[in-house]
Amino acid sequence: MLAICPDSFMRDYWQKKPCVLRAALPDFNDLLDENELAGLAMEPELDSRIVRFHNNQWSMIQGPFEEFSACEGKWTLLVQGVDKYLDDASELMSQFNFIPNWRVDDLMISYAVEGAGVGPHVDQYDVFLVQGKGSRRWRVGPPKSSVARPPAAGLCQVEPFEPIIDCELSSGDILYIPPGWPHDGSTIVSALTYSIGFRAPDQAQLAGYLAEHMQSAESLPARYTDPALPATEAPVSINRNEITQLKTLLHNAIDDNAFTFTLLKLLSEQGLEPEPVDADMLTKQLQQHIDNGGLIIKHPGCRPILCDDYTGWCFVNGEAIEFAQVNHPVMRNLMAKSTISRADMTLAPDDLDIFCTFARLINMGYWGYR
Ligand code: SIN
Ligand code: CO
Repeated sequence: MLAICPDSFMRDYWQKKPCVLRAALPDFNDLLDENELAGLAMEPELDSRIVRFHNNQWSMIQGPFEEFSACEGKWTLLVQGVDKYLDDASELMSQFNFIPNWRVDDLMISYAVEGAGVGPHVDQYDVFLVQGKGSRRWRVGPPKSSVARPPAAGLCQVEPFEPIIDCELSSGDILYIPPGWPHDGSTIVSALTYSIGFRAPDQAQLAGYLAEHMQSAESLPARYTDPALPATEAPVSINRNEITQLKTLLHNAIDDNAFTFTLLKLLSEQGLEPEPVDADMLTKQLQQHIDNGGLIIKHPGCRPILCDDYTGWCFVNGEAIEFAQVNHPVMRNLMAKSTISRADMTLAPDDLDIFCTFARLINMGYWGYR
């Protein structure tokens, strides 16, 4: 269990300043070892890379790997999106359930040998660096203090900085770093680091979402009109009113409820590969399974979202799934759980609908049963 107070952390540190959370995960057990991490780095579905400092030179080699001869000098192997492939990652990720699902990006795991690190750099996302086995020295500098200095293709390092945090982490310690704060970790004893990263769309990405919505069937784009346009003597001019009218068209598209619905779908997109399903599960079969003591299990890495302004809808990996509106509060609770048993369902106003919805989610490959 995470030994911090989520309320105080969010109030004092989240998106504000970095902090060291000593022994925040007491008795932390590594999810894997370096050999298993290397196994994951061989999978084509996972994004992996080796960053090394060897013969006085930095280099980055992109995975997937067939063998590991690149592990020379001071090297770090980093594998991203591990939360979707490792059942055991669910428990670690659930420690951060005090931050909404839609903000969570992924779990990256790195293994670094003594003296290694990826060099000073800045990330555009919030990150919790959970120290696994081994130990590392982390230095964090003030935001905007860094100037980009890429030492090799694919490596976004920054100039060395004056640290405001200089600490040594051992197993179970966590370092939280908000976006934009330069940081640098060097390895004291060969180490596993678990980075829980968060995402926050920028304006360009949101504009992309709007463009995607405008091209979808749900949208009927309105066009600029000017029936009251007077004859002009200055054909090169466009006036402030015309620009305001153009921007109003865009504002109206953004304010349209249909766009909100698309936005919710897009925010739930995770690039999850649904689990293959042998045969469709029927509502009745699922009900029997649960009544006989069975469980419904969320697949690793699946992070659904619900919005209280859209009761009776859940959004999973870019898809919208409808259920009975009366079940919204219960579904908010059930969908946050990694496993669901009969006891969890006792307060459902319409439990047939709950079974029907989860049977659908099982058939879609996002939940399973045991
Ligand atoms: C690492 O695990 O070495 C890199 C993590 C980070 O700085 O984001
Ligand atoms: Co970083």
